[in-house]
Amino acid sequence: MEKRKELYQGKAKSVFTTDDPETLILFYRNDTSAFDGKKIEQLDRKGMVNNKFNAFIMEKLEAAGIATHFKSLLSDQESLVARLDMIPVECVVRNISAGSICRRLGVEEGLELNPPTFEFFLKNDDLGDPMINDYHISSFGWAEPEHVEKMKALTFAVNDVLKALFLDSNILLVDYKLEFGVATGGEVVLGDEFTPDGCRLWDVDTREKLDKDRFRQGLGDVVESYELVGRRLGLSFD
Ligand code: TMP
Ligand code: ASP
Repeated sequence: MEKRKELYQGKAKSVFTTDDPETLILFYRNDTSAFDGKKIEQLDRKGMVNNKFNAFIMEKLEAAGIATHFKSLLSDQESLVARLDMIPVECVVRNISAGSICRRLGVEEGLELNPPTFEFFLKNDDLGDPMINDYHISSFGWAEPEHVEKMKALTFAVNDVLKALFLDSNILLVDYKLEFGVATGGEVVLGDEFTPDGCRLWDVDTREKLDKDRFRQGLGDVVESYELVGRRLGLSFD
């Protein structure tokens, strides 16, 4: 597979075209950003750790019948993915209250949410990723109504698979964000990534934070915690 030109640079990954128009390369950089890009640092090994972590999770999701864009690992910091027409919406499921929902609704952190709750956010850093609803997505044409329903169903299907996977390693999947796109054949497919950058993971016994909240809150040991989670899942980063 030949790497051609850079299509797009996100906050933590860069996207490259290849000689196959249906295949892209995702390059996981060491850049770590939070607060809509207002805090950015380079963290050694993070690109490699997230690339391998994501590959492991995407393969688990594929095995459970959830279609993803992931094709294969290409190198320590690169993966091959299928080109999707991305939907500019972030899908969040929360099993336990944390982060923005605590600020917005004035609820304490750590409440078990039964049933888990779902939120859409518009992917727009300049606006601070505002929360939106199903009607906004349809009214402004960001996605077809049937694609909106499909994104919700897939995001909850991911919860069933990953909540159990993490719990087997004594880790709570507190919340996570997914992004979807439409594949060439018209199918809604999971895109972007699933790494500790885009979810919250707490140790079951100590409730220690093992995700990007360590970076947001200046707790230190950011990549070390991502690696710890990976190793508990059975991954090796050497
Ligand atoms: P929040 O508490 O900031 O709304 O985030 C909920 C979860 O979704 C958390 O695990 C972080 C993730 N997330 C992102 O990774 N990027 C985003 O732009 C948003 C809005 C959430
Ligand atoms: N809103 C997400 C976060 O705080 C992503 C970002 O802003 O970079 O982690």
